[in-house]
Amino acid sequence: MSAPFRIAVLASGTGTNLQALIDAISAGDLAVEIAGVFSDKAKAFALERARGAGIATTVVPPKRFATREAHDEAFFAAVDGASADLIVCAGYMRIITAAQIERRPNRMINLHPSLLPAFKGLHTHQQALDAGAIEHGASVHIVTADLDDGPVLAQARVPVLPGDTAGTLAARVQAVEHPLLVETVRMLAEGHLRLAPDGPHLNGAPLPAPLQLGANRRLA
Ligand code: GAR
Repeated sequence: MSAPFRIAVLASGTGTNLQALIDAISAGDLAVEIAGVFSDKAKAFALERARGAGIATTVVPPKRFATREAHDEAFFAAVDGASADLIVCAGYMRIITAAQIERRPNRMINLHPSLLPAFKGLHTHQQALDAGAIEHGASVHIVTADLDDGPVLAQARVPVLPGDTAGTLAARVQAVEHPLLVETVRMLAEGHLRLAPDGPHLNGAPLPAPLQLGANRRLA
């Protein structure tokens, strides 16, 4: 048997996406090992979820460091200790310095709550409402030095409904984020998706457009 595909998960918040990964692994739907969960916030509930699942956790709080660069240096030194095949940002809310990203080309993915390239940055649900969008969703993309800008691997779409608030829209997006992240990680772990130097590949050929999450909760 080949060694399990190892992921390191970076999370700053409640960790529902981490939980979706943990649940898919326990259900036998996702053959990966979570080699560690890493956070900038000691109180992140994601850490509780990790501990509950017997996963090693590491917290590197920024306030102990004089600069963003120094924090990232220590944070990613810890992440490297997990020897992960893939680094998964699942609600990691710090902007990562370019130097750290460039040292790990095509090894980091991020889940972002919008249909990129629309609505980068923060408050994406309010951004979608303010823009009068009729469709919104979530994307998984390769992390590059430009914020929320790397090649998009997969997306899940939801309608914006009359009367939506940022809260109702966020809840609708979150429901599709979970299968989106799990399926994207599964396709990477199984080798169907590959992050090649010349861009993402699907089954050996360049990925023509982001994969889309279907009603069957699979990517196509
Ligand atoms: C998710 O909605 C994710 O898309 C978003 O943070 C949330 C984390 O939720 N990520 C970003 O905004 C990244 N810029 P979770 O802690 O429950 O998994």
